[in-house]
Amino acid sequence: MSHADLDQTAKSILTDNDQGGYTIPTKGLYPYQWNWDSVFVALGFATFDQDRAWREIEMLFEGQWRDGMVPHILFRKDDPSYFPGPSVWGTNGGPIPSSGHSQPPVAASVVLDLVRGDRTGQALERATALFPKLMAWHRWYMTYRDPDGLGVIAVIHPWESGRDNLPDWDDALRAVEVRDIEPYERKDTSHVDPAMRPHKEDYDRYLSIVAACRKVGWDPAKVAETCPFFVADPGVTFIFLRANRDLLALAQQLGMGKEADEIRGWIARMESGAKALWNPDIQAHVALDLRTGKQTDGISCASFLAPYAGLTDTATMAAQRAHFDRMASKVRYMMPSYDPEHGCYEALRYWRGPVWAMINYMIARGFAEAGDPARAERLRNDTAALIETSGFAEYFSPESGAGAGGGTFSWTAAIWLTWASPSHVEQAA
Ligand code: DGY
Repeated sequence: MSHADLDQTAKSILTDNDQGGYTIPTKGLYPYQWNWDSVFVALGFATFDQDRAWREIEMLFEGQWRDGMVPHILFRKDDPSYFPGPSVWGTNGGPIPSSGHSQPPVAASVVLDLVRGDRTGQALERATALFPKLMAWHRWYMTYRDPDGLGVIAVIHPWESGRDNLPDWDDALRAVEVRDIEPYERKDTSHVDPAMRPHKEDYDRYLSIVAACRKVGWDPAKVAETCPFFVADPGVTFIFLRANRDLLALAQQLGMGKEADEIRGWIARMESGAKALWNPDIQAHVALDLRTGKQTDGISCASFLAPYAGLTDTATMAAQRAHFDRMASKVRYMMPSYDPEHGCYEALRYWRGPVWAMINYMIARGFAEAGDPARAERLRNDTAALIETSGFAEYFSPESGAGAGGGTFSWTAAIWLTWASPSHVEQAA
């Protein structure tokens, strides 16, 4: 397929998955509005319909809870093809039935991009309307996912990290007692090869965490105190630190002085807190179990988001480059979601090895901003090659380049349109 044909296919994927203002990640496997999927999708729409891009984010914020949280799934209609649906979550925090926790907060960063690339003349008005909602969500993160003010952000569930079966969660998840779950039937493995999905032992514990939080009514203070899983995630921490910097830029542009001061405080807290994620033995940022104080021992794709978060000191950058090059010598396509030299690496199982287009996009942006265009370009070329070879898959083998998980995937299409497509780059030049 030519680049122009791929551009067209990517647009058709977004419009086919469009449910009237919000976009599902893919048919069958994920039939609802997912939080960070939607936000990346907005970047894709912005390349050909900026009004529709704003709409995607505005509709996500329609589901914001009274306490500020923006849920990871909005169940706008019943769909028996997905499990666990609204009755398992048992939430009551917002205007739309939803899951009970959040997902990586990329929205402020994308809103800033929409403002900067605006061709509609309406961006400032729409950003002004979203700004207090973004503030409330960010304040919720600082209050309830960093309750001790450490400057690192915890996830209360592997699903909240967006990187569900990452090896970093293995120990903390194993410590979760399997309890209070009804017999259940998974739906994901009827849409996708089970070898590319999490194991049943994982699912039992995913559901046990949901049951524990349901028991405390999804009250975020009680969840922070009692949730059997509470792990600081370099992925959410770095994405959120970046989002805070972008929210600060928005606050300044919109003349929100008081809010800008509050955000500056968050950034300072996180810049110093990020040190707690640095594992000196392996020279990388890793996850930190806040219940046991134990750091993990593997390098994940999120370790490479430090530059995206603005952490570009000499020692961090030297370590990033060394790991990048070492991993690039082990796989054909960058960036594997887990270190291919780690014992837990699996090339095709979801977050234990496969390459994800939107992660490559964020890592590359960080590297480019940190003055390393060569590695950023390597990521873009690899992402383009994967899509050219295997289409708009959910994720890809870093070894063979085979597509895996769900097909005709919205965020892969969006990332193609906004960044990976060579014709997009030609236009921009
Ligand atoms: C799933 O159902 O696999 C999702 O990743 C949860 O968000």
